[in-house]
Amino acid sequence: SQGSGIDVDCMTLTRFVLAEQRKHPEATGDLTQLITAICTAVKATSSAVRKAGIAKLYGIAGTTNTTGDEQKKLDVLANDLFINMLKSSFTTCLLVSEENENCIEVETEKQGKYIVMFDPLDGSSNIDCLVSIGTIFGIYRKTSDGPPSLKDALQPGIETVAAGYALYGSATMIVLAAGGSTVNGFMLDPAIGEFVLSEPNIRIKPRGKIYSLNEGYAAIWDEATREYINSKKDPKCGKPYGARYIGSMVADVHRTLVYGGIFAYPATSANPKGKLRLLYECNPMAYVIEKAGGMATTGTQRILDIVPESIHQRSPIFMGSKEDVQDVIDMYKKHG
Ligand code: AHG
Ligand code: MN
Ligand code: MN
Ligand code: MN
Repeated sequence: SQGSGIDVDCMTLTRFVLAEQRKHPEATGDLTQLITAICTAVKATSSAVRKAGIAKLYGIAGTTNTTGDEQKKLDVLANDLFINMLKSSFTTCLLVSEENENCIEVETEKQGKYIVMFDPLDGSSNIDCLVSIGTIFGIYRKTSDGPPSLKDALQPGIETVAAGYALYGSATMIVLAAGGSTVNGFMLDPAIGEFVLSEPNIRIKPRGKIYSLNEGYAAIWDEATREYINSKKDPKCGKPYGARYIGSMVADVHRTLVYGGIFAYPATSANPKGKLRLLYECNPMAYVIEKAGGMATTGTQRILDIVPESIHQRSPIFMGSKEDVQDVIDMYKKHG
């Protein structure tokens, strides 16, 4: 009824994905079922994140993952949630998680046609100080015959079926790029436990005024990165940009999507491939940014064109507003 503040016809994420599905007569509804399972895992993770301090979920789990990260208790909890919800959705056959050294093969009786790469908790160094953290996921179709195997996980980002992220910030939001060509934001309404469409058709500005990267590594950047970042601060090269860096990729990329500008985790002499992992951080975020009208590059190669060789390989990344990213590509050509 009017004026009650309750929307009696709210566009939930499930309704939205169902409507998308109806546009494809051959669709089986499996992708809808998969995205619904991801929503459930995100809601449970959101609840755990928001009571972590009370539920003694801060601090480390006392273990280290295969990329050398010290695992936090919430890393492990979120990972278990996603693995269980994805397997029990009967729509997946292979999973790749930051927190698991090898691919996770779904039991035969629960197998479906999708492969999901995910970072269950992104920015976990920020958990204990209450700074925003997130979850990142990318969905692919199994295209090979026979049982699922490692090669099914080594698809380039251009093969993405759908990708997105959850941001556990001042509110919990899922940003989803599912087929089609639009990127949509859904805010969790805790009162009804539903993700409600709040940011339809998100587009990124062609150029922004913010650059975002960890300047602590300036001494070990390559020449192209150094010259580019200096140009963002030098009045002789135009109006200097503002600097913002949160240290959670999801939060930094979401701000870049909404406000424009550029986010980077470049190569350094210590980490020639940078730090961010291709399959479950760079590719899903690059897919979302491209669908919103932006670009994502290593400096010399489009992120989504990289053919992976191993499931935890890293890639340098510059992503965001098209013109800002093009400036980086031009800088790498100059130093080529
Ligand atoms: P994760 O917590 O999933 O391991 O990811 C952390 C990543 C990413 O969220 C962020 O952009 C980056 O680490 C920050 O690294 P630095 O602390 O080296 O800047
Ligand atoms: Mn980690
Ligand atoms: Mn991460
Ligand atoms: Mn993580």
